[in-house]
Amino acid sequence: MTDPRYHYRVVSPPGHDELARLEFEALTGERAPAHPPWNEREDASDHPGLLWARAGVDVGRAAYVAECCRLLARGTTLDEMLAAAADLQLRMERFRVHARKRRGTKVSSSQQIERAVANTIIGRPDLSRPAVELIAQVHEREWLLSELVSRTTNGWLGHEQRPHQYSSALPPRIARAMVNLVAVPGDRLIDPCCGSGTALVEASSMGIEPFGWEINRTIVEQAAANICHHQQAAWLVVGDGRTARGSWNGAVLDLPYGISSERCDDVARGLVEHALEVARLVAVVTVDDLSGLFAGCGGEVLGTATVIKNRLHRRVYWARSIGAC
Ligand SMILES: C[S@@+](CC[C@H](N)C(=O)[O-])C[C@H]1O[C@@H](n2cnc3c(N)ncnc32)[C@H](O)[C@@H]1O
Repeated sequence: MTDPRYHYRVVSPPGHDELARLEFEALTGERAPAHPPWNEREDASDHPGLLWARAGVDVGRAAYVAECCRLLARGTTLDEMLAAAADLQLRMERFRVHARKRRGTKVSSSQQIERAVANTIIGRPDLSRPAVELIAQVHEREWLLSELVSRTTNGWLGHEQRPHQYSSALPPRIARAMVNLVAVPGDRLIDPCCGSGTALVEASSMGIEPFGWEINRTIVEQAAANICHHQQAAWLVVGDGRTARGSWNGAVLDLPYGISSERCDDVARGLVEHALEVARLVAVVTVDDLSGLFAGCGGEVLGTATVIKNRLHRRVYWARSIGAC
């Protein structure tokens, strides 16, 4: 087995780290440690949470996975890393080096580190329009020099602003991560209880074709306005999500709760069963405990996460369909 050469920087607000871990697993196809490295740190921004993987992927559409880098050289000291980089005789045109210094690191200023790394490279730097970006940083008492492979565009930013707010709506960042659990650009996605269209907007903005069902006509009209506002497109149907016929690559299911709709175990079971019938991968978000439901519904749970926002604990179940119920 080859050593992991790619590291991913994961940035998640408090309460979102478990969903961030699932997004990393969905994007890279690799398991993340049960306790992500950015947990139990006092200042997450000072200690980037790096996760290692054998493959490098495009994280441009990610909600929490901020960056993918390919490791070039490492060392227990800055000098050791610089020597390892020099040994590689790297040839690069139009490169830029960015040093990420941990607060309290005394060795050198960021500019000194950047210059020292640049001196190990054969080729010309370009600080304004670089073709290659190099990052030097300390991680777990080791210096790493890496090449940036991809970076998120934070495409969910700005999606909170929309003509129609909805008290039961998912925050766009959570919706985006859930879409990333079940679909990739070019796929078709169903949201059987689409509400104000949050997941549909995220899917469409990532090049995924979204289909939404919603039982309440007024809310469907609001979803349509929200989708237009963000210059996205989706198929919308007024009706019970359990009546949707067809096949989709993925489903995002935000189960009804609270005052806007009745909490009802049978409705939840019916919606989950239906989602697993029509889609290969399903991401369900709910305030209830659904453990044990999936096996009896033709689903295998791939991962779970609790997401805490404004004291609301949401439970995310990521499952794949293993055949009809
Ligand atoms: C938790 S909200 C979804 C919110 C949505 N994710 C958003 O961000 O706006 C659940 C929605 O499901 C709708 N709903 C309830 N039962 C349904 C059913 N059987 N089929 C379709 N929609 C249903 C409710 O009207 C409500 O808008």
